[in-house]
Amino acid sequence: MADPVLSFRDLRTHYPTRGGVVLAVDGVSLDVMPGETVGLVGESGCGKSTLGKTAMGLVKSTSGSILLDGVEISGLSRSALRPLRPKMQMIFQDPYASLNPRMSVARILEEPLIVHGIGTAAERKERVRWLMEKVGLRPEAGSRHPHEFSGGQRQRIGIARALALQPRLVICDEPVSALDVSVRAQVINLLMDLKRELGLAYLFISHDLSVVEHVSDRIAVMYLGKLVEVAERRTLWTQPRHPYTKALISAVPSTSPGASSVGRIRLTGDLPSPIDPPSGCRFRTRCPLAIDRCTVEEPALRTLAEGQLVACHRADEAA
Ligand SMILES: Nc1ncnc2c1ncn2[C@@H]1O[C@H](COP(=O)(O)OP(=O)(O)O)[C@@H](O)[C@H]1O
Ligand SMILES: [Mg+2]
Repeated sequence: MADPVLSFRDLRTHYPTRGGVVLAVDGVSLDVMPGETVGLVGESGCGKSTLGKTAMGLVKSTSGSILLDGVEISGLSRSALRPLRPKMQMIFQDPYASLNPRMSVARILEEPLIVHGIGTAAERKERVRWLMEKVGLRPEAGSRHPHEFSGGQRQRIGIARALALQPRLVICDEPVSALDVSVRAQVINLLMDLKRELGLAYLFISHDLSVVEHVSDRIAVMYLGKLVEVAERRTLWTQPRHPYTKALISAVPSTSPGASSVGRIRLTGDLPSPIDPPSGCRFRTRCPLAIDRCTVEEPALRTLAEGQLVACHRADEAA
């Protein structure tokens, strides 16, 4: 079996704030294999973006390990990280915020090549043309600026820029959540085509399980800084074992194609504060199956079936 492109091992990222320490990511272990799409799903505020940003070195981890192609990258300085940077790139929810409005698109796409000293000017120009074509933009549009494009086109520019350095892995953080429903499918299909053609791996982050279910090979479900279930896409969708996963599936409109027929669980209340999470199982305050044990003992993420990890004391009985 190949080695993972990206591995998190017991990763923690805590934010000290005036109101207390936010346990945004609190002990996550997860692998992304070469060419694999791992979906990361959970309610807003559960720590998904923090996990992605920590991998990218945009925020500092508190403890634990991040391996990129087997190389420990947590705690590396920006300059130490730079030579590894091409391997892993990120696409953000709001492409406009991440694209320099004063630069032409051609310049935006060329910049990472310049920073990393790649190619002659002519070779870079050729590469920029290639990138624009790859993401479905006319190369002649390279002289235009980000504001001259639609939201969907801007996300295409964001994708092209992420691909400029030929990464092995792209972290996609809610890449279609800000787009009109009408263009979402186009951008998702583009990402899937690029993955196939270029052999990319994705860590695909979304609060929307129906999107994640559509694109992923495996899915990791996150709740209040921790993973509660990890499984193959199909298994997770048809045989979820964690009550929180079941609740997320229940919230997907049953009219959507391939809707799961899992028994419905209604999710009530809000996500508790990550500053002072519930004792024992963090989900217990919203869990219809919670028992006394859940208050005192934190359930470990354990293998319940081939390739299916679940953190729930009651997962065996509640199948
Ligand atoms: N820079 C920050 N400082 C303090 N708290 C933060 C910061 N960024 C995010 N958080 C908090 O960390 C938690 C996880 O946030 P985030 O990773 O953005 O979740 P998600 O992407 O799943 O919505 C939330 O409670 C959020 O308010
Ligand atoms: Mg987020």
